[in-house]
Amino acid sequence: MNSKYILAFETSCDETSVSIIKDGHTEIATVVLSQIDIHSKFGGVVPETASRAHIENITIVIEEVLEKANMKIEEIDAIAVTYGPGLIGSLLIGLVAAKTLAFIYNKPFVPVHHIAGHIYANNLVKPLEFPLIALVVSGGHTELILMEEDYSFKYIGGTVDDAVGEAYDKVARVLGLSYPGGPVIDKLAFTGKDTYDLPLPMDDTSFNFSFSGLKSAVINMAHNEKQRGNKINIENMATSFQNRVVEILTKKTMRALKKYDVTNLIVAGGVAANKGLRDRLTELCNENNINLLIPNINYCTDNAAMIGAAGYYAYKMGRRFDDILKAKPTDVLH
Ligand code: KG4
Ligand code: ZN
Repeated sequence: MNSKYILAFETSCDETSVSIIKDGHTEIATVVLSQIDIHSKFGGVVPETASRAHIENITIVIEEVLEKANMKIEEIDAIAVTYGPGLIGSLLIGLVAAKTLAFIYNKPFVPVHHIAGHIYANNLVKPLEFPLIALVVSGGHTELILMEEDYSFKYIGGTVDDAVGEAYDKVARVLGLSYPGGPVIDKLAFTGKDTYDLPLPMDDTSFNFSFSGLKSAVINMAHNEKQRGNKINIENMATSFQNRVVEILTKKTMRALKKYDVTNLIVAGGVAANKGLRDRLTELCNENNINLLIPNINYCTDNAAMIGAAGYYAYKMGRRFDDILKAKPTDVLH
């Protein structure tokens, strides 16, 4: 079979990224232009600013990726793009750019769900083996998904309030740390001690998660210490917070593997970059004979390579955009 090349776009949040992926598993070239510097002074992504930056960057990123790959659009087999979920203004920039190219060059135009992309980032490391359970942990998602075959997603459980990455970012802000908070807390957590008596959130028999109570517990402790004229020990708070997050995520994930009799686990999304989580999962998977697959750190956070990997399978399955171009800021994974 001839190789298939996918030109993929990802602009759902604050990264402008375009990539060329061969056959769903081989990266030819990727460019990721991060807007972190622009948003960090506000402690989070400013949607209007993000979409303006995407407009300024998108054509440069497209030209750069083609140059890096030494390819022409004529050599591409299909164009894939994240249609949701994400920020509506940001999504629209990638969608319009991708659709314009698909129309001009008469290429199949393939919609990709952002979380399918995060999951398929793992396919760039090693082919996915089924059945598998995916632990999806990002700034907008905390979910356990069962996959019995390519591009089939069954929801097992997920957060009932904040996503885990969101909790990291909010806790970091309260502790006066920079945005995005996840990597900063992760680093500090390895330097402190678990001295704060934080709750283990939603420690029940379900496969759901809740992180807003844990976040509030940190905020309350920080305020109480301040009122008493004490300073919070940031390193210790980072350790205590991260330990609770890692414990509940790993506990429910290992239980889900057992219940569904699955021996393949993949981790997806920005929080998959978390060293505490990676270390603990590696340990538990070794003990329990589970095959663990985690993307390379630079492909845990948002990028178009993952959209190109997922886009290949969506393309093969015949998924195409309808005539009407739609961004879906809150679409569920299917
Ligand atoms: O997947 P992603 O790039 O964007 C979304 O789709 O949300 O994830 C971004 C999230 C942010 O909340 C960020 O703080 C978190 O991933 N993150 C981390 C780490 N690196 C990024 N959280 C914990 N530990 C990390 N090392
Ligand atoms: Zn993401």
